[in-house]
Amino acid sequence: MKIVILHGSPRKNRNSDTLAKYFIKGINENKNNQIKHFYLNDLNISPCQGCLSCATSLNHSCVINDDMQEIYRSYTDADIIVFVTPMYWGYMTAQLKTVMDRMEALAWEHFYHKHFVIIITYRHHYESTVAFFKRIAPFFDIKLDFIICQTYDPVSQKDIPIENIKEKLEDAYKLGKKLFF
Ligand SMILES: Cc1cc2nc3c(=O)[nH]c(=O)nc-3n(C[C@H](O)[C@H](O)[C@H](O)COP(=O)(O)O)c2cc1C
Repeated sequence: MKIVILHGSPRKNRNSDTLAKYFIKGINENKNNQIKHFYLNDLNISPCQGCLSCATSLNHSCVINDDMQEIYRSYTDADIIVFVTPMYWGYMTAQLKTVMDRMEALAWEHFYHKHFVIIITYRHHYESTVAFFKRIAPFFDIKLDFIICQTYDPVSQKDIPIENIKEKLEDAYKLGKKLFF
């Protein structure tokens, strides 16, 4: 299996990345997988300009020559795409949304028939991001799995260190393991 992981948080190795780490630990029980990580905050990815060159060009390519080109290649090659994001102002982070917009170039051909794993951490709500993936999945024949974790205690109104949310880390590990055996 070829797996692409799109890390959407600017905070490396914090909540959403930690959940992803446990998922990957599960995946790695099967040594034959190939995993490619993209830390979006470190990359040079311009926002989509809506030029629709991708709609009219023969190979549906994007004319912007930046780090998204490597994501296009890896996405097309991959079986599983893992979207890792905290909720930011009611949606996925700007880093991940910028990548989603640029995926317009894949929507003509290569976006189809993948397996998406969506990893979300949040304080108050996550529904808008889940709803987006659920809405597009049937159209593109995409299989979906979610790992969703609240990193906040509404009673004490304090953030919870993700390391203390053991059952969610275990769920992420188990899903990784299950998908690859
Ligand atoms: C700028 C900013 C905006 C946020 N907006 C939301 C939000 O709209 N809804 C929510 O539930 N949590 C929100 N949060 C909380 C994060 O989603 C939460 O703390 C998450 O676990 C952080 O994950 P990370 O450590 O991977 O970055 C926000 C955090 C930041 C820094």
